[in-house]
Amino acid sequence: MTIYEFAEQIIYEAGQNIKNKLALELTIETKSNPNDLVTNMDKETEQLLVERINQAYPDHHIIGEEGHGKEVDTLDGVVWIIDPIDGTLNFVHQQQNFAISIGIFKDGEKYAGLVYDVMNDNLYHAIAGEGAYLNDMKLGALADTTLKRSIISLNPNWLTKDWIKDVYTPIVKDARSARSYGSAALDFVFVAAGIVDSYMTLRLHPWDFAGGMIIAEETGAVVSNQMGETLHPLQSNSIIVANQQLHREIVSGYLSRYEKELTELHQGMFSSR
Ligand code: IPD
Ligand code: CA
Ligand code: CA
Ligand code: CA
Repeated sequence: MTIYEFAEQIIYEAGQNIKNKLALELTIETKSNPNDLVTNMDKETEQLLVERINQAYPDHHIIGEEGHGKEVDTLDGVVWIIDPIDGTLNFVHQQQNFAISIGIFKDGEKYAGLVYDVMNDNLYHAIAGEGAYLNDMKLGALADTTLKRSIISLNPNWLTKDWIKDVYTPIVKDARSARSYGSAALDFVFVAAGIVDSYMTLRLHPWDFAGGMIIAEETGAVVSNQMGETLHPLQSNSIIVANQQLHREIVSGYLSRYEKELTELHQGMFSSR
């Protein structure tokens, strides 16, 4: 079995475990603020994935949102970057619209991405260089779009914040329409599947974007931070993912005006993971 096949096997197992326990009462705690929730299922899912990987591949490194791999600071060897439940707020409030995300790197290179939309039983997956799939269906190459004809995904909370609203309001105004899904991993694969044309947000951690980035890039999407710079898989950053033409239009036509402010924001926000 390849590492990729193994990853598919354990992501399905972890998803099934969540489904089996949906009716049970959740233990919910808060993290950095009252709206930053973590449940026993986030922790249990991370634990399950980590145990399986450790058992099969004791020399692999694992970074997970709920505490694993804080000491991992290089991409040497095989590195798994895991978000056990991406969209915890959706999980708690809706019991749907959340995903398990896995990104795997081999000696610094992208190897594979898997994002499992658990309740819809949709697995988005890709081996770098071999195209992206939704279950058994290969996803086509993304067509270019203009902002005027694009649906973009953006958390409306950004439109309530000081000068940041000035950055995004013109983009939302000029787009055909905007959506917000509440799971960064799903946002990435929705771009890959052509469900939305772009997703942008100001702060994601490696576990939010590692899997989705690899899948989206396999459909020709461009993934960068909001200054158009390449992401480092181990560093938190801002994000814009879009088809090539739309990425260019948003970065150079809208975001570059705020390069100074965005650069300062990045220096303050992204000094650590
Ligand atoms: C969050 C979701 C959300 C995004 C946040 C993430 P979590 O991840 O992806 O859509 O806006 O920035 O932290 O905490 O639910 O895994
Ligand atoms: Ca979280
Ligand atoms: Ca997340
Ligand atoms: Ca999470």
